[in-house]
Amino acid sequence: MPDSPDVTEASGKLSQFRHPVSSQQRVSSGGRSKVPLKQGRSLMDWIRLTKSGKDLTGLKGRLIEVTEEELKKHNKKEDCWICIRGFVYNVTPYMEYHPGGEDELMRAAGSDGTDLFDQVHRWVNYESMLKECLVGRMAVKLTIPKVRVIENVGKIEIVLKKKEDISWKFLGHLLENHNSFIPKKDRGLYYRKCQLISKEEVTHDTKLFCLMMPPSTHLQVPIGQHVYLKLTISGTEIVKPYTPVSDSLLSEFKEPVLPNNKYIYFLIKIYPAGLFTPGLDHLQIGDFVSVSSPEGNFEISKFQELEDLFLLAAGTGFTPMVKILNYALPNIPSLRFDVEFVLSAPTSEWNGKQGHISPAHLSEFLRRNSEKSKVLICICGPVPFIEQGIR
Ligand SMILES: Cc1cc2nc3c(=O)[nH]c(=O)nc-3n(C[C@H](O)[C@H](O)[C@H](O)COP(=O)(O)OP(=O)(O)OC[C@H]3O[C@@H](n4cnc5c(N)ncnc54)[C@H](O)[C@@H]3O)c2cc1C
Ligand code: HEM
Repeated sequence: MPDSPDVTEASGKLSQFRHPVSSQQRVSSGGRSKVPLKQGRSLMDWIRLTKSGKDLTGLKGRLIEVTEEELKKHNKKEDCWICIRGFVYNVTPYMEYHPGGEDELMRAAGSDGTDLFDQVHRWVNYESMLKECLVGRMAVKLTIPKVRVIENVGKIEIVLKKKEDISWKFLGHLLENHNSFIPKKDRGLYYRKCQLISKEEVTHDTKLFCLMMPPSTHLQVPIGQHVYLKLTISGTEIVKPYTPVSDSLLSEFKEPVLPNNKYIYFLIKIYPAGLFTPGLDHLQIGDFVSVSSPEGNFEISKFQELEDLFLLAAGTGFTPMVKILNYALPNIPSLRFDVEFVLSAPTSEWNGKQGHISPAHLSEFLRRNSEKSKVLICICGPVPFIEQGIR
């Protein structure tokens, strides 16, 4: 899951936000990593297979009720069923396409994988991706209560029989979403349809997208957090994370608008051979994109009593830095704003710094106010950039 863990260092803190070079190569936080997939096993290849009309469940389109006993039997790679939120999928055809690898998927083989799935990537749109792998619903075990109508009074009496004739120590578990408060982090992502208002070229491959939120929406994405954008590509819903930036990046200056406004801005690099960004780029003004509620665990409390702040960004790793800068500059009096550009592939006219992130560059730039100053370093960019930077 693309969250942003912290690495505490000697006298300061280091926050990392990971942006993939490609989503296929990304190493996720928390030690989980994506596996290199075989040739012809990309998400696009999977979508193609699901649209090919092939029978992916082995049930010829029939949906069945699956009992727990039945589910348990399908626990091998070549015959693997997984239950997610009450629906059972045959994931054997998906094995080689799973970016987390076959072994990860097998952890849920023949069982209810909902919790495991949610822990890793609850934002992944499995329903759409596994539509053709649906085996059926879990059979609900019902104990049919005896119902007796009490004559004259017009009331009914429902007689429920205990399984065992003992006194209950607790009352069992409530049904999903019944009479319960669900912590925000455990709730599913909520998507709202936003309309594309403008698309501005920022560099040769990067664009600033402005989306208008539906009326009465109050979506405020906290500093350092991201949202998910969802689009239907070749008939399948695809979801990718993006970090909103602010309207201060528009080429024409606009009076800053208050938070809770109706627009949300994204700075997005278009990968011509990518899965999601070409679809986004082809949207016409007035078209719709779904935008999720925010996620991430960067906390603004990190700025308390801060004296030095260093932001290291490569490519679209710049996006979380926009809001950090907008917040930090007016709020942290000791900060002096300074920018250093290092280009990895400059044109011949460039006479500034060049190369990749290195200890030499960093020791030159990361100069603190004092030796004991409270310092925060935020780093975001492709995985090799982050790994080098941390080293
Ligand atoms: C928390 C977070 C926030 C993010 N915020 C932003 C943001 O604000 N702006 C932004 O632009 N991006 C952001 N990203 C990245 C974004 O989520 C997408 O990964 C990115 O837009 C690429 O999407 P895509 O589907 O178009 O490309 P992909 O299909 O992922 O492909 C990207 C590139 O990798 C290549 N590729 C694909 N598969 C392979 C393979 N198997 N082997 C070798 N190369 C391959 C493709 O050809 C393409 O060039 C963020 C990512 C995270 C995790
Ligand atoms: C229930 C058991 C599952 C486990 C333990 C699991 C585990 C993982 C892990 C470890 C990763 C790589 C780390 C990461 O990118 O965050 C991953 C990625 C992924 N998994 Fe799963 N997975 C499971 C089920 C599924 C299912 C059922 C789907 C359905 C389509 C799925 C789709 C994906 C996708 C699309 C990614 C890439 C996410 C990205 O782009 O960042 N996974 N999974």
